[in-house]
Amino acid sequence: ELPEEGIITSTAPSNIALVKYWGKRPVQLPENPSISFTLTSCYTKTSVSYKKKANASEDFDFELYFDGELKPDFKPKIQDFLKRVQEYLPFLKHYTFTIETTNTFPHSSGIASSASGMSALAYCFMQIEKIMHPQIETSLLLKKTSFLARLGSGSACRSIEGPVTVWGEHADIAQSSDAFAIPFPFDLHQNFEEYQDTILLIDKGEKQVSSTVGHNLMHGHPFAKERFAQASNNIAILKDILISGDLDAFIKIVESEALTLHAMMMTSLPYFILMKPNTLSVIQKIWKYREQTGSKLCFTLDAGANVHMLYPNSEKNEVLEFINNELVAYCQNGQYICDKIGLGAKLL
Ligand code: PMV
Repeated sequence: ELPEEGIITSTAPSNIALVKYWGKRPVQLPENPSISFTLTSCYTKTSVSYKKKANASEDFDFELYFDGELKPDFKPKIQDFLKRVQEYLPFLKHYTFTIETTNTFPHSSGIASSASGMSALAYCFMQIEKIMHPQIETSLLLKKTSFLARLGSGSACRSIEGPVTVWGEHADIAQSSDAFAIPFPFDLHQNFEEYQDTILLIDKGEKQVSSTVGHNLMHGHPFAKERFAQASNNIAILKDILISGDLDAFIKIVESEALTLHAMMMTSLPYFILMKPNTLSVIQKIWKYREQTGSKLCFTLDAGANVHMLYPNSEKNEVLEFINNELVAYCQNGQYICDKIGLGAKLL
């Protein structure tokens, strides 16, 4: 039984894919499996206050505040999400909700807030569900949370747990599913402990092409079939790397995946480019730095111009020095964000 009213607050982090999800079929099901690092510092904090209505209504009743300001223009996205998940959360129409949300990373920094935002919201709703069904087993609760987050934004399903999650069926990962993400079910090699992700903010402008449009352009894409097969193959290779700790092999897969994602964009019809000249300059600098120092630093990209620099914790001082000396010049207003691998969503 749910009380008349209450409030749930949770945080959920962003995540960065190592093998990329690009291409989906209805409803938010991936065309290929993907794997990601869950992050720590870039997260969304969301509170959901609920209050019982006298009668259940046909519509959802909610208000949305972002950074303390009422945001009616954000409502349609949440409305769509609620519509999709209502059959799994029957209490939704019996309550009025006030949703308050903030991000730790700058708005329109080019860091997608949909993964952390949708996972934080799904997490809050599942914690409300848990009040009604306290006996629900934790692993089932987390799977269902990931499942709901996926219906908000595909990659959001990978933000519920950490430090590494897998989404999408794969023969080598027995418990994996297209419907939700699971934690990487093997021991992660200690080389990846505290693995760093420093995000260079290259361009904070609005993306010209949304990821929804991008995913859809994989329908009828000339390289789609090969790409989906390649992603599955890369998951198999990366699985072994994450277990063995082979960082040279890690670099090859991760950088190839980043460039392949953008190659898919460049070879779609219509074609588009989300990288900026500074993205390429930074990539060249990283390659040169690696050649000169033997560092295990590598880059990845998501659907934008920003560069995620991934490296072992043991190289932190040197890499930050390299960034400050040579890379800040390529960042908008000299901005970058220091993040690292993390553990997923939590209740506050
Ligand atoms: O979750 P979406 O629909 O915003 O798609 C995200 C896709 C990429 O970030 C480009 C890759 C990924 O796997 O996260």
